[in-house]
Amino acid sequence: MTTTTHALPRLGRTERRDRWWEAPLATFVGLSVFGAYSLFAAIQGRHYLYTGGGAHELSPFYSPDLKSLFGLSVPFSYAFLVLWAPGGLRLTCYYYRKAYYRSFFLSPPACAVSGPRRRYLGERTFPLVLQNVHRYFFYAATIVLGFLWYDAGRSFAYRTPGGSLEFGVGIGSLVLLANVVALSLFTFGCNSARHLAGGHLDCFSCARARYRVWRGVTFLNLRHRDWAWISLATVGLADLYVRLAAYGVFHDPRLF
Ligand code: FES
Repeated sequence: MTTTTHALPRLGRTERRDRWWEAPLATFVGLSVFGAYSLFAAIQGRHYLYTGGGAHELSPFYSPDLKSLFGLSVPFSYAFLVLWAPGGLRLTCYYYRKAYYRSFFLSPPACAVSGPRRRYLGERTFPLVLQNVHRYFFYAATIVLGFLWYDAGRSFAYRTPGGSLEFGVGIGSLVLLANVVALSLFTFGCNSARHLAGGHLDCFSCARARYRVWRGVTFLNLRHRDWAWISLATVGLADLYVRLAAYGVFHDPRLF
């Protein structure tokens, strides 16, 4: 018997009656906005460090500060020398794959909704087989995360007129701290971190320390999607905050 559903084109054919398209549409908008802003911020190559009033607040898009550390001089914004690691982590993340396969490639758009392909091809052939490098992006992004923690800590040290450092707290310090906490909760909920902690173990009771770490990672892993979005927002907002302050739109208020 021919039904109304079968008369629909293949793409988007479904018997679902709920608003299934809301999630992929919201994902498409969210990732597009973040992607466009990130590209804009990365290309700038300036206004990424706020030093007003002795502060030292570095945009997370430019951490580690390779220019200051090594005196690098490259004919492009050196943010690109940094962003490949956290960007690669997100691009190959198991959660984000699902999100952008659905929202950008409609493959499929949602559960029980037809996509454009007749066969499921998996990730066994080029280029999707490259998603398997995810664990290496995890290692690289963890190193970058260490620098972000350093930079968040550094933002609580203010340069005095005499040249020494003193403890202080600005709104920007708190923004950078909140960002690195969110990024850590996202990064350490990674499937690769979970495998690193508990993989290849046949006996948890024989390796109790690893078991405890595995349980912690699993706790974060269960909320990985949430931290993926929260940290995406915090990293973008942290850059925006530092950028506007460095540009002179406002001065970061020092709380004490
Ligand atoms: Fe999401 Fe690794 S960062 S699975």
